[in-house]
Amino acid sequence: MSGSSDGETSPRVPDAGELHQLFRDQDHRFGNVEEWSLQQLNAAAAASPGCYVRVAGILVGAGLHDGQELLLAVASRDGLDRAGVAMTLLHRSPGAQECWLPTDDRELAAVMAAQGWRPSTVDLQMRLPLLRTQQTPLPHGVDLAELTGGEDNVMHAAVHELACEAWDMDSHLQQFLDRYVRPTTYDAGLWVLGRDHVGVCGAAIGQVLQVPDALVGKVATLAVVPRARGRGLAAALLSQLCWRFAARGLLLAQLGVNANNRSGAPTMYRHLGWAQASSRTCWRRGDPGK
Ligand SMILES: CC(C)(COP(=O)(O)OP(=O)(O)OC[C@H]1O[C@@H](n2cnc3c(N)ncnc32)[C@H](O)[C@@H]1OP(=O)(O)O)[C@@H](O)C(=O)NCCC(=O)NCCS
Repeated sequence: MSGSSDGETSPRVPDAGELHQLFRDQDHRFGNVEEWSLQQLNAAAAASPGCYVRVAGILVGAGLHDGQELLLAVASRDGLDRAGVAMTLLHRSPGAQECWLPTDDRELAAVMAAQGWRPSTVDLQMRLPLLRTQQTPLPHGVDLAELTGGEDNVMHAAVHELACEAWDMDSHLQQFLDRYVRPTTYDAGLWVLGRDHVGVCGAAIGQVLQVPDALVGKVATLAVVPRARGRGLAAALLSQLCWRFAARGLLLAQLGVNANNRSGAPTMYRHLGWAQASSRTCWRRGDPGK
């Protein structure tokens, strides 16, 4: 499409603000609360040559490799051939194996399908207004543990172990720290931890996200070890976290959950008053052999 009326591919790396705006607008259009951080987009832009499409100098499409993943955004503008822009970006990203897009973006979904990509995992975004937040009591035998600044690294390691047990998977402590402790959104006051006679048994970790017109409380993770389940601990930790969000003046809480979560978490969240706002679908490159 280089040089066509639909835009020109351009090797010029956009400045961080320009890129952020494009991804944020795409999410916003489909009701998604913004999840893109400047840091993440900068890192992806620095890691690969990327592909950028501009119309009259304005960025209308970007495709960035983030490891295996392709980060793809196409602007919505009158007269713009979004499908054409998306196709260009896909053709210029041959190594990418997966790509998350707003589920309701039918135009891009049609392009992905036509290019041999297949929809797989779906993540639901759920929201809860924080106006009438009530605190649910902790189950008997569980109290709250705080991060005090003294030995927080010990607690971080304990929460990492708890997460591995709750999700029944192995992960490196380093990965956990990179995801939950290192980012600038880390906030020790929003780590709500439950402790029983054995140790840390449940965690709700929160972050504050800046979205275009508000600050939103994001539940970054919620996990309870098997021994402590079914007694209302997740509900209590979540209500405590939402209460802390509200105490900071936030009006809305948000979380993402896999639609096929093994614990049936989407049903649990609905039961606790959360409503689905939107969703993202992970598209995987089809196996050409099949
Ligand atoms: C999901 C998880 C956190 C639930 O923890 P829990 O402490 O057992 O949950 P609670 O006992 O607090 O349940 C809260 C409420 O939701 C209900 N509930 C829990 N799971 C449910 C389900 N699968 N379907 C319907 N309702 C459910 C409970 O009945 C309870 O309601 P009640 O108080 O009216 O009886 C836990 O199973 C877990 O850690 N799973 C692995 C990690 C995970 O999937 N985290 C969530 C992903 S974002």
